[in-house]
Amino acid sequence: MTTNTAAWISTKRANLDVKPAPYTPPKDNEIVVKNRAIAINPLDWILQSAGELVFSWIKYPFILGSDLAGEVVEVGKNVTRFQPGQRVLAHAVGSDPKRNSAAEGAFQTYTVVLEHMASPIPDHMPYESAAVLPLGLSTAACSLFEKDQLALQHPSVTPKRTRKTLLVWGGSTSVGSNAIQLAVAAGYEVITTASPHNFDYVRKLGASQVFDYKSKTVITDIINAFNGKTTAGALAIGAGSMEACLDIIHACKGNKFISMATFPVSFQKMKKDSNLRLQFFRQLPKLIAFVISMLLKSRLRGIRTKAVFGSSLIANEVSKIVYVDFLPQALAAGKFLAAPAPYVIGKGLEHVQAGLDMQRSGVSASKIIIAL
Ligand SMILES: NC(=O)c1ccc[n+]([C@@H]2O[C@H](COP(=O)([O-])OP(=O)(O)OC[C@H]3O[C@@H](n4cnc5c(N)ncnc54)[C@H](OP(=O)(O)O)[C@@H]3O)[C@@H](O)[C@H]2O)c1
Repeated sequence: MTTNTAAWISTKRANLDVKPAPYTPPKDNEIVVKNRAIAINPLDWILQSAGELVFSWIKYPFILGSDLAGEVVEVGKNVTRFQPGQRVLAHAVGSDPKRNSAAEGAFQTYTVVLEHMASPIPDHMPYESAAVLPLGLSTAACSLFEKDQLALQHPSVTPKRTRKTLLVWGGSTSVGSNAIQLAVAAGYEVITTASPHNFDYVRKLGASQVFDYKSKTVITDIINAFNGKTTAGALAIGAGSMEACLDIIHACKGNKFISMATFPVSFQKMKKDSNLRLQFFRQLPKLIAFVISMLLKSRLRGIRTKAVFGSSLIANEVSKIVYVDFLPQALAAGKFLAAPAPYVIGKGLEHVQAGLDMQRSGVSASKIIIAL
């Protein structure tokens, strides 16, 4: 019998605890992956500190985690794309409301993964690099390609140029790094923002122009950069991104659509051990002011906006577009980089809690990885 171990969250807001977990065999359209590397996302510490507010469907004890890379150990009876022993990366979607399953969390040795949310990885790609991609990639893909989001042309290893320019506000984030690369692969020019020390980084990913989001003139500078161009819309990532994108897209010619990745409440400042509802309540006036101002500005300016949900692609064609049709070829051809760079903080599930705390305190163009 296969033995499994997981970094469990036993109850809401608890620290993770490494303990035995059941091994769950795959259903017809699933695979089981033995994880060799897992990555940490803001979602993980947000769920740890405010899971009952954000993803109220989660029942504890639970296993969090979205990003993994490892070897396939078992495949469901309808799976033809993978075999045991194959090296893969995958987006584990256990915390999505349609799945809501601890067996599908990444923070364990063996994770059950939906077949269409996994991609083979090239032999030369370390597991620690491959694991940086999944949630950032999925979220960027939902924003760019879902029909009720930016609905861009699909990515390809031989992109067909569109002559349209996408604004990615927050290009050095994980989501932004993937969005830049996906948009370029879909034939769009990309204008982005980052801190100056990450300018070369986002250019390497394919951005044509980059601006410092902390500069006082950033909005006018970007509006000037769009002069003579047709916009494909914007992806707003990071605090203050939505407000800035509303001003920029208003001044540009083209698609008046903004896809919003960042929730307008700061979870970073919320303390795990004090009254969560009170802390949330304190942010309520800011949240209400944000929603009213955003609704007014977008309506008056004829701009459509929509919040993105990074695992919604499990139920639409975007998962196939990305994980089946594009990524395996693009990784093999060296046309999609595993970005941001992995920062391995240790080996073993007991390092996951430190990874969550480190991610919460902030990273810059890097992804915290735990090797297994
Ligand atoms: N809706 C969803 O389903 C979904 C899914 C995934 C992530 N998200 C959200 O998307 C955001 C990014 O997540 P991530 O994992 O990609 O983040 P991340 O990699 O942890 O982000 C780190 C980067 O954020 C940049 N940054 C910090 N403040 C910023 C600001 N005000 N504007 C623009 N960039 C800023 C920093 O850039 P510099 O170092 O260059 O300054 C840094 O490189 C988070 O708010 C996260 O909660 C949403």
